[in-house]
Amino acid sequence: MSAALAAGSASAQNTEGGLFQIVKPAANVNLGKSELGKKLYFDPRLSKSGFISCNSCHNLSMGGSDNLPTSIGDKWQQGPINSPTVLNSSMNLAQFWDGRAADLKEQAGGPIANPGEMAFTHTLAIGVIESIPAYAREFKTVFGKDKITIDQVTEAIAEFEKTLVTPNSRFDQWLLGNKEAMTPKELAGLKLFQDSGCVACHNGPALGGNSFQKMGVVAPYKTKGGAEGRSAVTGQEVDRFNFKVPTLRNVELTYPYFHDGAANTLSEAVDVMGRLQLGKNFTKDENTKIVAFLKTLTGDQPLFRLPILPPSSDKTPRPTPFSK
Ligand code: HEC
Ligand code: HEC
Repeated sequence: MSAALAAGSASAQNTEGGLFQIVKPAANVNLGKSELGKKLYFDPRLSKSGFISCNSCHNLSMGGSDNLPTSIGDKWQQGPINSPTVLNSSMNLAQFWDGRAADLKEQAGGPIANPGEMAFTHTLAIGVIESIPAYAREFKTVFGKDKITIDQVTEAIAEFEKTLVTPNSRFDQWLLGNKEAMTPKELAGLKLFQDSGCVACHNGPALGGNSFQKMGVVAPYKTKGGAEGRSAVTGQEVDRFNFKVPTLRNVELTYPYFHDGAANTLSEAVDVMGRLQLGKNFTKDENTKIVAFLKTLTGDQPLFRLPILPPSSDKTPRPTPFSK
């Protein structure tokens, strides 16, 4: 595989069946649905406290993550696991570290009712939305029904998330044939990434997100986190400590790393990956090159106007941030 690279046939890599593909701009987006979903994504009134929105833990000003080892939920609860980026999550084969949600729509219902996250219920969330006249009108326009359902809420949020893709990274420009887009150091990093075997798990348009793999192939990964990985879903012992391979798109922005958020820097994450997944001890120079390559994966961040949320009405149930 490195032969093609060494020969410099950059665009040959960008084919169906090649190792990598570019991130494409979002297509076939239902604009009305996505605009509504954007509001819901930013609306903290879908939480019990009235304070936590999807954007609290998947901050679109910070690479779609919260940059914390594990997230902070309702009443400052310590979350069990690192918050993955929502950027390019539409490319994932399934959602969550263990893949327990099939798609974005199924995923979006989870956090609202999760007592450790937004701590609300679907019924209460619908009650709040129904009490806000501008929302009621917008749901009616988008879905053509009188009754608002949680299904519509998750469908709209998932439609918005489809737009959260990050095309046009320097790596993509290079894949498309612009030889100037990457420096020799970054290209040396890409070559190490391929020749060392990182690419076995981090491939495709997202450089990840398309398979479940063992964390700790060559040597075990030591963690204080309690997550067991894919086995929580399949019940199979062989799946223990298998996690969805995270995307490396925008990885420069989504620190700290790993499901337990234990690696603070990219350099540390690359070192751990080399040793535990491949039995390789990268030199400082090799590590720096791989990190330089990984930073070329930062694409154009979603650009949009911050949504202005419709005000609550006199009938809207008020949030209860401090109740037991
Ligand atoms: C309190 C923090 C928090 C809030 C609020 C929150 N999330 Fe998450 N989100 C997480 C964490 C942590 C995970 C990983 C959980 C796991 O894998 O077990 C996650 C996972 C996800 C994923 C899966 C990404 C992947 O690569 O697997 C998506 C998509 C997502 N959240 C979207 C949302 C949406 C939409 C909302 C609002 C309805 C939301 N989140 C609210 C913390 C949060
Ligand atoms: C056998 C499959 C496999 C190989 C090979 C592999 N990785 Fe990974 N990579 C994973 C898995 C699985 C995770 C998530 C592990 C976890 O969080 O517990 C991961 C996580 C990462 C992360 C952290 C991403 C994040 O958002 O938390 C980086 C960076 C990374 N890998 C880079 C590399 C590099 C560089 C190489 C080559 C030196 C490599 N990987 C080789 C499977 C692999």
